[in-house]
Amino acid sequence: MVGWQSYFAGKRVWVTGASSGIGEALVRHLGEAGVVTIASARRVDRLERLASHYSSVHALELDLAQKSALSQAVNTAWEIDGGVDVLVSNAGISQRALFLESDPEALERVIEIDLLGTMRLTQLVAARMAHQGSGHLVAISSVVARIPAPLRTAYAAAKLGLHGLYDSLRGELGPLGIDISIALPGAVRTEISHHAVTATGEQHGEMDANQESGDRPERSARAILRGVARKRREFLVSMTPKLWLGVVLRGVAPGLLWRTLAKVSVT
Ligand SMILES: NC(=O)c1ccc[n+]([C@@H]2O[C@H](COP(=O)([O-])OP(=O)(O)OC[C@H]3O[C@@H](n4cnc5c(N)ncnc54)[C@H](OP(=O)(O)O)[C@@H]3O)[C@@H](O)[C@H]2O)c1
Repeated sequence: MVGWQSYFAGKRVWVTGASSGIGEALVRHLGEAGVVTIASARRVDRLERLASHYSSVHALELDLAQKSALSQAVNTAWEIDGGVDVLVSNAGISQRALFLESDPEALERVIEIDLLGTMRLTQLVAARMAHQGSGHLVAISSVVARIPAPLRTAYAAAKLGLHGLYDSLRGELGPLGIDISIALPGAVRTEISHHAVTATGEQHGEMDANQESGDRPERSARAILRGVARKRREFLVSMTPKLWLGVVLRGVAPGLLWRTLAKVSVT
């Protein structure tokens, strides 16, 4: 076996946000490679349909906003095959709303799912991994962590929060045998803009142009699995030339980046 498959062989992987987009594509790749994989999200019908194609894939309902249900979900995940070696914290919702027009509850929902829910699950899983003496925690962040853009205030705050959390954990969990990776996708053709929160907290309900022209989820997921298998600490995937330009400008001429972002219309 070569490539990322050899790293994942014999490991048990838990992917959150597996009912669509990048998470579903991650599960498909892992399932095709015969890796024991737990696929989690709220839309269980989709998870069960996905799991029915692969004997090594198991569906497990999970709502990251349901704080009290997380501990039972972790118990169930551990019961499936006696443990979890890799947690891919991929579940998330985006935002399409101006800060000044947003209901505070709409902003808080993004933070609740993308940061707090992920942090709570990470803590429960990391404790078990520490007991196992090994593990790999993977966060799916976003290029907005490098180029925070208009209409994405809470989303960028949540993703940057994940960087703070996962980067701090390197020092605490590295000595316990737990690796940490953060993947930052650029633009991927998924349901993300459809489910994004508007100023009133409703779903945006549209496929934005950036998403429509984005990378295929299968390609993005393969790049993520390769980065994880190489234990890369932080890596960008599914980048467009415009996004690369933004990342470079952030490094060499941040003032120009902020002035440009204030002028361009971001969807
Ligand atoms: N697509 C992009 O261009 C892009 C760019 C940068 C970063 N990302 C990141 O990539 C990750 C995956 O997004 P995607 O693009 O694949 O979008 P997606 O198709 O909308 O997938 C999001 C997943 O998150 C799950 N989810 C949402 N709320 C949840 C909750 N409360 N509890 C548990 N699961 C929940 C959804 O499942 P249910 O609704 O069934 O619960 C779904 O499976 C996200 O973290 C996103 O921020 C995406």
